Amino acid sequence: MALNQNDKSLVKGYQWGILFCGLVLLSFIAAFIALLNPPTSTELPILTDQNVIAKDELWIAPDTSLIPKTEDGHRIRYGRKLISQTSRYLGPKGKVNAISNGMNCQNCHLKAGTEPFGNNYGSVASLYPKFRDRSNSWESIEKRVNDCLERSLNGEALDSLSQEMRAIVAYMNWLGKDVTKGQKANGSGFITMAYLNREADSLKGHQLYAMKCSSCHGNNGEGVMRFSGVEYLYPPLWNEHSFNTGAGLYRISNFAKYIRANMPQGATYDRPQLSEEESWDIAAYVLSMPRPEKKFTLDWPKIETKPIDHPFGPYADGYSERQHKYGPFTPIIETKK
Ligand code: HEC
Ligand code: HEC
Repeated sequence: MALNQNDKSLVKGYQWGILFCGLVLLSFIAAFIALLNPPTSTELPILTDQNVIAKDELWIAPDTSLIPKTEDGHRIRYGRKLISQTSRYLGPKGKVNAISNGMNCQNCHLKAGTEPFGNNYGSVASLYPKFRDRSNSWESIEKRVNDCLERSLNGEALDSLSQEMRAIVAYMNWLGKDVTKGQKANGSGFITMAYLNREADSLKGHQLYAMKCSSCHGNNGEGVMRFSGVEYLYPPLWNEHSFNTGAGLYRISNFAKYIRANMPQGATYDRPQLSEEESWDIAAYVLSMPRPEKKFTLDWPKIETKPIDHPFGPYADGYSERQHKYGPFTPIIETKK
């Protein structure tokens, strides 16, 4: 029997109807399965702690009471003071010279550069002069100290022959005198930390900052000045008195590692108060806030040696500045391979 035009469209209508019902049924089944098995793709990886070093294997700084009572010893003690109370000597109201932002070296190199995983100086004497990719050159201790003065203290370099530079170098050499030349001291620098498999989240970081950091560092990251007005009780984390965009802490991995093992004040690498995930998110928040911008045009002459979280292009790969600043880093690492 031949179908007329009306019958044909009726059959078409049925076909669409069946298809529609089928789709509705399928989506019900899919929703039901999803209910039974919540999606796993949003779960974070289990972050590992690879920093298990036996306490008795950590580098311990020499005893300061054993610094000799000689001219050399005097220089070492002065160097230690310049590290722990930098601003008194070199800050905006410094009694030697006003060449830095009011922070102390010790704010980031805790306990005058002796704290395990507190960015300590245990390996400076043993590993410098050191070849560094950032400058593509061999750097003396003096050069490295001036790097932090110009970047972390957003200031000016010291003359290599100045009493202050001689004292800082003497102190670092004294600190590392028992470390074998060429060896890294255990617990120097930062802890190691796994990368997140997502972009670090500055919104989450903001909430965490309000709960865990602002009581000391302030709602606007301004820190708290001591009554003397010469140095900080709680150092600033962003805005004009903080480290500039060329500083090591401006790299998110350095910032996250530093706070994971040392902040809030009282935390240590073996008794941390932040999870790794929280550390990444807080780092993202703090580093998204304004701070002094200083361009170091001679940095990274070989762009393929830039660390994956160096936040300024050009890059040897096609990833954006945003991804290089906040992650996710795994794709970048994969591409590098
Ligand atoms: C805002 C934080 C901050 C301040 C303040 C700071 N530094 Fe640093 N410093 C760092 C970071 C971060 C690194 C490691 C950077 C890296 O490896 O990329 C570092 C590394 C160093 C190193 C090399 C250590 C090594 O084992 O290779 C020396 C030396 C140093 N700083 C000296 C100083 C001196 C001296 C001062 C004060 C004048 C100072 N720093 C102030 C953050 C800071
Ligand atoms: C109880 C007060 C306190 C709290 C809370 C605290 N800090 Fe700090 N923070 C300090 C002090 C004090 C220093 C300087 C350490 C020194 O000089 O010995 C410091 C130093 C720092 C530094 C390096 C210096 C600088 O100014 O850049 C960073 C970064 C930092 N804190 C981040 C944080 C973050 C992020 C949090 C929240 C997770 C936090 N802190 C919570 C007291 C605190």
